[in-house]
Amino acid sequence: MIPFITTNEGKFEEFRTFLEPLGLQLSMSDREYPEVQADSLEDVVLYGASVLSRELDEFVIEDSGFFIDPIPGFPGVYSKHIHGSIGLDGVLKLVGTDRRAHFEACILYYDGTSHVFKGEVTGTVATERRGTGGFGYDPIFIPDGHDRTFAEMTPAEKNELSHRGRALESMAGFLRSRDRP
Ligand code: IMP
Repeated sequence: MIPFITTNEGKFEEFRTFLEPLGLQLSMSDREYPEVQADSLEDVVLYGASVLSRELDEFVIEDSGFFIDPIPGFPGVYSKHIHGSIGLDGVLKLVGTDRRAHFEACILYYDGTSHVFKGEVTGTVATERRGTGGFGYDPIFIPDGHDRTFAEMTPAEKNELSHRGRALESMAGFLRSRDRP
């Protein structure tokens, strides 16, 4: 079992839903590690890995963010903080007529070397919250080509479209080709 170091149960559930059917087992480890305030998600996971690798031989970490396209970089690396401060209602008030948005995910798998996998999904900000599934900004994000928010989808449906699902697909491809060359 590879430890996935996160305090976010929603993320862990999406990892598990994606990886278990492929025979890849992860355990959730909610230990803390430093999350630097950097401009890119990749810098955040690379720094986290540089600290964790002093104690662990193998692990997975992930950093992700929600981006409202007409407000460059926002909330981006501050997604968790903004969600906890002004909340989804506060975010909805900031969105104007251009409602384009996207999510990005950056997964780092460490096995002595840091391997980075990225994913992105584009869409729009809904005019109100809809749905009860998922976590974070899911109730207000509608992926392109769909009319339901992520929170109105099952974890498996969301994984087929999401930033995290895309990054997980790359990581799973890497792990499978490494284990069965
Ligand atoms: P972090 O990766 O723990 O720094 O947190 C990223 C934050 O971005 C989360 O706490 C959520 O607020 C938001 N976020 C990232 N991925 C998703 C997602 O798939 N759905 C909804 N919100 C997300």
